[in-house]
Amino acid sequence: MPSDTTTNSSRKILVTSALPYANGAIHIGHLVEYIQTDIWVRFQKMRAHSCYYVCADDTHGTPIMLRAEQEGITPEALIERVHGEHSKDFSDFAIEFDNYHSTHSDENRELSQDIYRRLDKAGLITKRTIEQLYDPEKKMFLSDRFIKGGCPKCKAEEQYGDSCEKCGATYSPTDLIKPYSALSGATPITKKSEHHFFQLGECEAFLKEWLNPDGETAPLQLEAANKMNEWFEAGLRDWDISRDAPYFGFEIPNAPGKFLYVWLDAPVGYMASFKNLCEKEGLDFDSYWQPDSDAELYHFIGKDILYFHALFWPATLKFSGYRTPTKICVHGFLTVDGQKMSKSRGTFIMARTYLDHLNPEYLRYYFAAKLSDRVEDIDLNFEDFTARVNSNLIGKYINIASRSAGFISKRFNGQLAATLDADGAKLVSEIQAQAEQIAARFEARQFSEAMREIMALADQANEYVSDKAPWVMAKAAGQEQQLHQVCSAIINAFRVLTIYLKPVLPRLASDVEAFLNIKPLQWRDVDGLLTDHAINKYKHLMKRIEPPQIDAMLAASAATLQPTKPSPARHGEAQQKESKQKKSKVAKKETTTPDNGAGHSVNDATDNTIQFDDFAKVDLRIAKIVKANHVEGADKLLQLTLDIGEEKTRNVFAGIKSAYSPAQLEGKLTVMVANLAPRKMRFGLSEGMVLAAGPGGKELWILEPHEGAQPGMKVK
Ligand code: 2FM
Ligand code: ZN
Repeated sequence: MPSDTTTNSSRKILVTSALPYANGAIHIGHLVEYIQTDIWVRFQKMRAHSCYYVCADDTHGTPIMLRAEQEGITPEALIERVHGEHSKDFSDFAIEFDNYHSTHSDENRELSQDIYRRLDKAGLITKRTIEQLYDPEKKMFLSDRFIKGGCPKCKAEEQYGDSCEKCGATYSPTDLIKPYSALSGATPITKKSEHHFFQLGECEAFLKEWLNPDGETAPLQLEAANKMNEWFEAGLRDWDISRDAPYFGFEIPNAPGKFLYVWLDAPVGYMASFKNLCEKEGLDFDSYWQPDSDAELYHFIGKDILYFHALFWPATLKFSGYRTPTKICVHGFLTVDGQKMSKSRGTFIMARTYLDHLNPEYLRYYFAAKLSDRVEDIDLNFEDFTARVNSNLIGKYINIASRSAGFISKRFNGQLAATLDADGAKLVSEIQAQAEQIAARFEARQFSEAMREIMALADQANEYVSDKAPWVMAKAAGQEQQLHQVCSAIINAFRVLTIYLKPVLPRLASDVEAFLNIKPLQWRDVDGLLTDHAINKYKHLMKRIEPPQIDAMLAASAATLQPTKPSPARHGEAQQKESKQKKSKVAKKETTTPDNGAGHSVNDATDNTIQFDDFAKVDLRIAKIVKANHVEGADKLLQLTLDIGEEKTRNVFAGIKSAYSPAQLEGKLTVMVANLAPRKMRFGLSEGMVLAAGPGGKELWILEPHEGAQPGMKVK
């Protein structure tokens, strides 16, 4: 199965990255995912596995329809143009899809409508009439993000229909003061409409079973699996999968005027893109998608769309008669210089702006040096970026070749020696011996570890160069043969390191292959030596980053992007009351905000610093845990009774059972958010939240004040 480090058999692998929306440009936040996936896929291909990487533009939904309308073009014209732009950006970053398709395709229509029919046949679709706000001028139903008005809590004007950006309150659009349509300005009316729902709750037993396998076969990382358990505990609710006309999407079979919600057809786009590839290349689609398939299926996604991929998608596949994903590989967001990407600071960098100033392989290397298999955010810090590229990639790795290549061409007519010196042979074999260890790192998506290990080997090679000092040998008499052997050993060390770096730096590796006059390197080429072989003249392989290049890119970025308010473009929003719970789980808990439809898995354009007033709104109090109890039927929760100096104690359900037993907590002091809106849970009312740190599971630590703090004291 997923590891090939002990076997040489060829695996059958299908890989996807999330489909970017067709109404915005690719930016560096997107690239974290595409670069991560591309590295993994290139590694698999180098290991001689059969591996296909497919993607597509995500083309449906209201924002795309409205964007086309704004531009005075058809949605089809918009998505065609964006498809060209996206394809070019990806290929310039050396992201090599086997197919880059569109969700607005015949394959996707057929598959999506068929899946709907199969789910219906399985008894999982139910219809209900719901009430929604409707724009009488635009003649369309409005999702929360298309309704604005005054915040019912703090009275701030021009707030969206689901939450207030000023005070953070969440509410229903009908609670807004003087609501109006963000599209036409008209006052919305309420209108009834019949909607189609997928009964996710019916799939709970299957989802729990799918989630459970341990270790290597588990489909989710620990952090993501923990999130799933929280969702199970909160209860799975029906998913509204229909939208009323006008809507740019696919019609629901036998339901005129009703369309499939974009999030139903978007993941089906993975299948559709692969189907399109199968048709072009004569591959067997069914052998990848039937329930007993021997292929492995990997989806790389950002943490903001876990709900869709880990709940809806496996359930949709299972109950429409397909196989389920082998793994969902979840990554965190990108921050720049420790903060959310910001248009005003120029750190909301479009792929094209980056490409206008810097070599894409710098970013591929940098992301590789930061990425792990965990769901954690990664930071792009430009000083660190410059230092790592210049001192590791160029100073350590490229330098190895440049320190010996000149001697080979000038003194030995470009010919490598027939044998290496003893120390050189030892060095090369030590580097070769790390092949499986490094392969295991790539396989497990522990790229930062792989880069660290490769650079340690480059250090070893550089020590050998310094010890042997070929430039001294070159001047001494009678050391011709030694010089030849030493320089040949250096070139051999460089060749093996190039294999290790090739998934990350495919273009550089291709230049190295041209320089070494060899065929495209595969992983198995690690073994063996390049001896008695003619190489080409060395041309410098990569330039250092000069800080003015970064300044110029940031300036260009700031000049082309004016700060904007988030627009109601993200179609991940859940639009009916039924979906409210999911929304707060998916979007709010993961602290994502609408991203102008420009993409997924990144932070939006707004600055994440807050004013003191914002901080002061959070009422943090010292709380004494008077009592702690297990909660019957809850796998993750403990029930805490907290004394915060008020007349009555507070009842709080905290997801810390994996790390604490009740006895460990009773009598302890901690910190709680005392003014969090009470939350009704299956087990009772939760009246606040205790603060804890850590990734989850056993690694969770509640905050505890120093001695002297008293229950009820304000934390400020
Ligand atoms: O969040 C997003 O950017 C979506 N366009 C991702 C879709 S992924 C898949 F489900 F299609
Ligand atoms: Zn408010």
